[in-house]
Amino acid sequence: MIDLEIRTAAEADAEAVLAFWKEAAEGTSITDDVDGVTRLVGRDPEALILAESGGRLVGSVIAGYDGWRCSLYRLAVHPAYRRQGIATALLDAAERRFRALGGRRGDAMVLVENARAQRAWAAAGYRQEDHWRRWVKPLG
Ligand SMILES: CC(C)(COP(=O)(O)OP(=O)(O)OC[C@H]1O[C@@H](n2cnc3c(N)ncnc32)[C@H](O)[C@@H]1OP(=O)(O)O)[C@@H](O)C(=O)NCCC(=O)NCCS
Repeated sequence: MIDLEIRTAAEADAEAVLAFWKEAAEGTSITDDVDGVTRLVGRDPEALILAESGGRLVGSVIAGYDGWRCSLYRLAVHPAYRRQGIATALLDAAERRFRALGGRRGDAMVLVENARAQRAWAAAGYRQEDHWRRWVKPLG
């Protein structure tokens, strides 16, 4: 296992996290800007969990808890650091947080085409539910 530090992000990390997601994450999101990340960290300072190795940002996950559901977003590991257990360590940290808050089930949206991610989620114990579709409406 590589030398790894898991910590929560601060507002000052926003730019670095956005740059990291461009390199490491799959897809983009409507909230991918400094204002989006700053609002997340301001509202819930423990939600954005980062993994660092030798001072370098190598992984992320958002563990959002709203009192009802435990929602996971932005699980990403730097391409040069994959298959070393970093996603596993991030999900462990996220799940510890959820359990401490009384959360009952982790919930992740995974792209249908993203087979690699599906294998990682399955390895971490998550199971696909087939009877849902995502419904969205941008709030103008
Ligand atoms: C998916 C991702 C986060 C996995 O990160 P990782 O640090 O490499 O994952 P881990 O090393 O913790 O892997 C844990 C287990 O998941 C499975 N797994 C992970 N990547 C896999 C791959 N490419 N192929 C097959 N199984 C894989 C394996 O069972 C693995 O255990 P093993 O290495 O002992 O066989 C990483 O590939 C990534 O950032 N992908 C791009 C972003 C993305 O798609 N994120 C998910 C959005 S829903």
